[in-house]
Amino acid sequence: MTQTTTDLITFSPTHATRCVVQHIAKGLGGPWRQALDLTPPGSGSEGRLAVTGDVIVIGSPVYAGRLPPAMVERLRRIDGCGKPAVVVVVYGNRAYEDALLELAEVAASAGFVPVAAAAFIGEHSYSTPGLPIAQGRPDAADLDEAGRFGAAVADRIRGGSTGVLDTPFALPGNHPFRDLREPLGVAPALDGALCHACGACVAACPTGAIGPEGGEANGERCIQCCACVKTCPAGARRTEDPRVLQIAQRLNRTCADRKGPEVFYRW
Ligand SMILES: Cc1cc2nc3c(=O)[nH]c(=O)nc-3n(C[C@H](O)[C@H](O)[C@H](O)COP(=O)(O)O)c2cc1C
Repeated sequence: MTQTTTDLITFSPTHATRCVVQHIAKGLGGPWRQALDLTPPGSGSEGRLAVTGDVIVIGSPVYAGRLPPAMVERLRRIDGCGKPAVVVVVYGNRAYEDALLELAEVAASAGFVPVAAAAFIGEHSYSTPGLPIAQGRPDAADLDEAGRFGAAVADRIRGGSTGVLDTPFALPGNHPFRDLREPLGVAPALDGALCHACGACVAACPTGAIGPEGGEANGERCIQCCACVKTCPAGARRTEDPRVLQIAQRLNRTCADRKGPEVFYRW
């Protein structure tokens, strides 16, 4: 029997989503590749030709119970060509609310056929050593679960679907979706004395909020993903906005209980 090939499509500013999705791909058993990274600004326009695998795993973080709008916009540029898709959201141990349903629907409208879905937990973007939130997630137990999920999806695909794809895929989430959160309009602060202008933050920013020369980020473009904060080797970028710090404090207090992955199959 020929092996199932898997293509990955991810948006993952701080890499938790990418890590989970790669372990799902390993569990699927055949060769896999990161076909499309939707994290960099402008990505997705190459999408029509980029997706060649038998199965596509699509991963996104959860932002305020929804998908990041940048992810939605970039995923919509891709043509799924009727390929079976596994849709995966990764959230910071608070809740994923409408995000998984939204990802299944956006993937379907882009021409994919969602056949399985999952919500996994990743360290919260606002987590810091002093205010940990889901610190160290996905951990070994999460990644084992991701591999088992991939293997179970592969078994189902080998077994065939016999027409059940005509039925809707019932996933948690509600219509109308939650309102998108208003952008804060500020970016993490830069400590110029610590910055070595190494460019790591420029490469990591998914919205081009940091210009090619580095320096202060554009608050209007910032989506608070914290990629620049987590990537800077010198600790030169820090979240100082009191609204974000307040959320981090609340989540550190109220989201300490460990949540586990949830998986869903269409048949
Ligand atoms: C702006 C923003 C909003 C977020 N909203 C939620 C949320 O509603 N629920 C939750 O549990 N985690 C939330 N998170 C945490 C991320 O979903 C989590 O950190 C995820 O692992 C990030 O994925 P990545 O590492 O692939 O970028 C949010 C993070 C950011 C930056």
